[in-house]
Amino acid sequence: MANSPSGDSMTQRIVRVLDTFTTERTLQTATDIARRTGLPISSAHRIVGELVSEGLLERDEEGRIRLGMRLWELALRGSSALRLRQAALPHMERVQAQIREHTQLAVLEHEEALFLERLSDPDAGANITRIAGRLPLHASSSGLVLLAHADPEVRERVLAAPLRAVSPETVTDAVTLRSLLASIRRRGYVVAPGSIEAVSTGVAVPVRAHGEVVAALSVVLPRETAPTPETAPTPAINALIGAARAIELDLRELH
Ligand code: PHB
Repeated sequence: MANSPSGDSMTQRIVRVLDTFTTERTLQTATDIARRTGLPISSAHRIVGELVSEGLLERDEEGRIRLGMRLWELALRGSSALRLRQAALPHMERVQAQIREHTQLAVLEHEEALFLERLSDPDAGANITRIAGRLPLHASSSGLVLLAHADPEVRERVLAAPLRAVSPETVTDAVTLRSLLASIRRRGYVVAPGSIEAVSTGVAVPVRAHGEVVAALSVVLPRETAPTPETAPTPAINALIGAARAIELDLRELH
């Protein structure tokens, strides 16, 4: 593959263009994309044009660019994330109907929690999670469950890196975090009050396939109605544990 003067391959340049899109920045001008990639303007414009003509990017009426439907279609084809989401959805709906707050499914992806699904009641409390959005492993309840069960190598890397405080209550001390992760493995769930925002408590449990943790199932509750880390299992924790078991059974039948 031909390399640019900067040494990037064509594939790397395409990825740089696609990577300028985030859950918050979904529509951009070609000029903004070019600036954000740091690629030469003409080269960025050419790549954007080619991706538009292949349907991987789309142009709206005002000429602004968004990710294309074709990219979505290709990404979902045969995707293990989609299989997991499909197995989880009926059970997430039951949790959602019972708890009436936010119910979410996340997987470990490049040392972050990536959210595959989120169901929300119209009257549910605050929640910053977005489908296809990410949260730090050490800060979100889903992330904590995924980190507790991650490969020891991944866990050590995360624990060794600076742990950013998302809120004043995020656990950023590696020693405290290590013992929290051990307690998550022991108890089978986590209750994380105020770790992302002061007003919410995340509660999460692991979902296993073939004995390995493949996802975290969570609810985000208003702080005042949520269990505390010390409380014995509550309706939310029981609903999550029951749903995780049911997803595990369904996943077994899918294989
Ligand atoms: C959590 O998973 O702990 C969590 C996620 C999103 C929020 C609050 C808490 O807005």
